[in-house]
Amino acid sequence: MSKQIFQPNAEFAKNANIGSMDEYNKLMNKSKDNYEGFWGEYAKEKLDWIKPFDSVLDESNAPFVKWFDGGKLNVSAQCIDRHLDTRKNKAAIIFEGDRGDVQTITYLDLYKNVNKFSNLLKEDFGVKKGDRVVIYMPMIPEAAYAMLACARIGAIHSIVFGGFSSEALKDRIEDAEAKVVITADGAYRKTKPYMLKPVVDAAITEGSPVEKVLVVERNNEEVTWVAGRDYSYNELIKNKSTHCRYEEMDSEDPLFLLYTSGSTGKPKGVQHNSAGYILWAQMTMEWVFDVKENDTYWCTADVGWITGHTYIVYGPLAMGATTVMFEGVITYPDAGRPWAMVENHRINQFYTAPTAIRVLHKMGEDTPKKYDLSSLKVLGTVGEPIDPPAWKWYYEEVGSSKCAIVDTYWQTETGGHIVSPLPGATPIKPACATLPLPGIMAEILDPETGEKVTEGESGYMCITKPWPSQIRGVWGDEERYVKSYFGDVTKDGKAVYFTGDGANYDEDGYITITGRTDDVINVSGHRMGTAEVEAALKKESEVAEVAVVGKPHELKGEGIFAYVVLKHGLDDSRFEDDVAMMKNLNGIIKKEIGAIAVCDDIVFIPGLPKTRSGKIMRRILRAIAKGEKITQDISTLEDPSVVATIEKMVNG
Ligand code: WTA
Repeated sequence: MSKQIFQPNAEFAKNANIGSMDEYNKLMNKSKDNYEGFWGEYAKEKLDWIKPFDSVLDESNAPFVKWFDGGKLNVSAQCIDRHLDTRKNKAAIIFEGDRGDVQTITYLDLYKNVNKFSNLLKEDFGVKKGDRVVIYMPMIPEAAYAMLACARIGAIHSIVFGGFSSEALKDRIEDAEAKVVITADGAYRKTKPYMLKPVVDAAITEGSPVEKVLVVERNNEEVTWVAGRDYSYNELIKNKSTHCRYEEMDSEDPLFLLYTSGSTGKPKGVQHNSAGYILWAQMTMEWVFDVKENDTYWCTADVGWITGHTYIVYGPLAMGATTVMFEGVITYPDAGRPWAMVENHRINQFYTAPTAIRVLHKMGEDTPKKYDLSSLKVLGTVGEPIDPPAWKWYYEEVGSSKCAIVDTYWQTETGGHIVSPLPGATPIKPACATLPLPGIMAEILDPETGEKVTEGESGYMCITKPWPSQIRGVWGDEERYVKSYFGDVTKDGKAVYFTGDGANYDEDGYITITGRTDDVINVSGHRMGTAEVEAALKKESEVAEVAVVGKPHELKGEGIFAYVVLKHGLDDSRFEDDVAMMKNLNGIIKKEIGAIAVCDDIVFIPGLPKTRSGKIMRRILRAIAKGEKITQDISTLEDPSVVATIEKMVNG
């Protein structure tokens, strides 16, 4: 069935960076005809090189690739120093705190704060180029200063989302062998203080690589201090010089690690390097959000996710934009909060997750009408497929049917957008990521043949040529990098990058992402490996076996559904014990991973459906969780009767 189509706003298109499909096609064809020429030109135009690069792309050791080899630059200087001549007094960051406190940080302020922070890390903590620094921070400007200070001195930051538990933090600290952790006492949520420092304390146990912990004071709640290890940022920063010469970095020097879930138990440290990443971060800001010099741009993500890295900090600052950073909860004190912020700060581009849109829609269908949202030009979504009703509400009520919605498809590993509408060019369809961006060779391939699939057929979302902001490696595990991303699809005899997502083309060649093909589920736009959740549940000694699957969820997109086989078996009289056990199991998940991984459903079953070779039939479990009737042949199962039992228990 063809979907409704919406043409770009003609007024907007006149001034857009890419203002028509002709322009889009020209750029796309240019990149296809002369791939290296295309990227080389942009790298020269957009980046300030300390030393020019010798080659554009070196694929000789693929899938380990090098972009702009021989070049030298510094990402922090890209984001700050080069704007000082023309944008010294322009707001770089507008911060709105949970309690409504607002702070404007100009590019000059940012320069001073980041330089001081860099000096602190170097002088007081001895942080050097290549050292790993874990950042476990709330959404406050110091989180951005910390990132940029690391980039300035060549340290590799690894941000851990503030919702992760001490166990999850500990794993990430240890995998990266980080010697410094930057955190805060805590912050505010719904006007109440919450704490982070105690989580860091619990994550640093004997044998930890961490030597120093830097604590930013935000909520001024009492925290315990370990002498010789913990230091107050507010104290140390006082006497630091506002100048710190940046490190001259190679194009391929690592910029950061960001841990993300995969289909096996252990999260992987996705590595991004300097030049290619920052180039695409900046270009997509200009193309996809079409941010202009006097615009104010707001992305509601957390810096703990890739969206916060690329589209709150690096992309906006690299292009010299004004980026809004928000500490609070967008539904607090009510569903009008984001619209009040749009009105107050005259926000022009607003970027959020479908989950947030669904919640805001549900809580306040007519709320946007109460605010002046006339400043809005571009609306964006990211992280999960958006459903047509939420899309329609966003388009009509928030955007007054005049703002393009850019449904941006990408991942931690791609560094920046790969498939997305361009707001001044692409006719959009509800809930459709549309077309690959110029320079990105994204194709839906048949996993068996490596051929491009035809209209209406499903296939694997792949990228057939390296691109500048692609993942460079999995920290400490070369083999996992190759296996995870280049092991599934081969085109013309060459292993190509597979995203892990399924997709299809419609009659216009538009791409719709249908979701993960692996055991990763997408909860409120956050990737969660089912194996990670299973590993946590197995920590309970009463658990014999467990299988975790995703289940459609009205607000979260997907919810987490756990099938658990207990050692004591099933017994009706144990019902109350089972309720206690559910609580206990979710408690374990909170401790091992964090509240984001708590299961929506836990069912205790007599046994898992397995093949005779012992493979768990997750397809069946997924179908039952969805409430579907099992009609397929299950005769090959070791114990087919278990399916009917589980069906009855779950769906009655
Ligand atoms: C999903 C977030 C549909 C997809 C930037 C991908 C999407 C995973 C979209 C990456 C979209 C992201 N439509 N699905 N517009 N954007 N996804 O690494 O499954 O946290 O693989 O990066 O989110 O999640 P990640």
